[in-house]
Amino acid sequence: MVSVWSNGVCWSMSLTVCLSSALLSLLNAFIFIVVTVPREAEWTLVLTGTMPTTNRKKQGGDTAVQGTNDSSVVSKVSAAAQGYFHDVFLQHFVCKAARRAPLINRGYYVRWRAVDYCVRRFLLVTDGCPRRQILSLGAGFDSAYFRLHADEALDRAVVFEVDFPDVARRKAALIKSNNTLRGMLDPHLPSRTGPEYVASSRYHLLGVDVREESRVEEALGAAGLDWAAPTLILSEVVLTYMEAKWSDAVISWTAKLLPQSLFVMYEQIRPLDPFGRIMQDHFLKLNSTLHALLQYPDTAAQRHRFLDKGWEQCVCLDMNDFYVGLVPEEERGRVESLEPFDEYEEWHQKCSHYFILTASRGALMTQALLSPAPVSSVPSICPSWSPSALSVQTLPVGVEGLGMASTWVSPGQVLLTGGSSRGGRGPVFDSTTPLPLFPEEVWWYMGVAHLHSTQSEAFSE
Ligand SMILES: C[S@@+](CC[C@H](N)C(=O)[O-])C[C@H]1O[C@@H](n2cnc3c(N)ncnc32)[C@H](O)[C@@H]1O
Repeated sequence: MVSVWSNGVCWSMSLTVCLSSALLSLLNAFIFIVVTVPREAEWTLVLTGTMPTTNRKKQGGDTAVQGTNDSSVVSKVSAAAQGYFHDVFLQHFVCKAARRAPLINRGYYVRWRAVDYCVRRFLLVTDGCPRRQILSLGAGFDSAYFRLHADEALDRAVVFEVDFPDVARRKAALIKSNNTLRGMLDPHLPSRTGPEYVASSRYHLLGVDVREESRVEEALGAAGLDWAAPTLILSEVVLTYMEAKWSDAVISWTAKLLPQSLFVMYEQIRPLDPFGRIMQDHFLKLNSTLHALLQYPDTAAQRHRFLDKGWEQCVCLDMNDFYVGLVPEEERGRVESLEPFDEYEEWHQKCSHYFILTASRGALMTQALLSPAPVSSVPSICPSWSPSALSVQTLPVGVEGLGMASTWVSPGQVLLTGGSSRGGRGPVFDSTTPLPLFPEEVWWYMGVAHLHSTQSEAFSE
């Protein structure tokens, strides 16, 4: 049984603040479950106000893509609330928090951790520079500026954020109506000019479509971006939403215009295995298609893409490699103890379908690259259907299991995954059965059981 939740986004406007928020596509970033669907995934937030309910499935492409921001910020707030990472500013960008399932919280944790890791490395490497910049493309309601400012990590650094005008307008309204956020900007903000919605000495928020290269270049120049200064360009689940010709162009023009820079990108890969197909389908249904996946389906292809488009060096890790190789064991232990969790299979599947990439231009920026992929201790989880990979035994017994997923394979055969017997995570079959599928004590069971005739009738076409 394979289930993918449906979702919708409802938003409204309050009097002064164009606030949207909410909800849900678990998959927006890292979010996605096969087999079971937590109820949290189905939450739909309806805010009081005057704006009509919006459904991402029915929206035009760009509007639907903007809705991905509303979903991801709610998920980030959920992960922060459960203690996965510390961010007291994100909550100001959602009007109603929702608690996500542990698997989703973990997904947002590893995403947040990977991006934070890259940003901190960049700030460390550029510590001696008179000026450094962070340019966040498709920044949405990201709170990085406020978090880094509060940590006093932005010494001699300026943050530029770009998103569609509607998103930038909503974010600017939220910031200006919130005392905490507004208090972290210059006391006297100049009035808005052109596409610049917030202009503070260390923070600039611009409303421009990043596909419009000359407009972005003009707007960033007018806002004070120094093209020669070391710059981190961040794209956190953004470029994938535009056709590959546009995302390729962004990767090229940033390399061309910023000779001392580090590109940091986090998004999806591996579209063609079963998990990847469901992932693609989910986004398609939400009208926010993942575009670059087919052309750049894995970490090697993404790496070559950047090297082809003007970047000098590039390191790309899938999130299993990042998590195991670059998150200290103690931190992993902390995170893994936060919530009850037994969805290890889905967790590793998810991690293998997302990557973190760093690409550099200029000698200094080479030092900020991610470490090359460590030898992964996570076994490959490419599904294999070779007959030798599945142990098959004839079992003249009934099958009793809890939380087990079953898929009809062919007449008389059913594939069982996960779950347990009534007695717990022991053999899947009842205690009178002398032949469990796997005699070892393992956490997961997978096999093909030949059911005897009365049972196989249940799976007839
Ligand atoms: C999934 S959200 C991610 C937001 C933010 N980067 C984060 O990770 O929290 C994708 C964001 O990219 C923005 N975006 C997508 N295409 C864009 C484009 N062509 N120009 C500007 N922003 C874009 C959307 O409006 C949305 O805010």
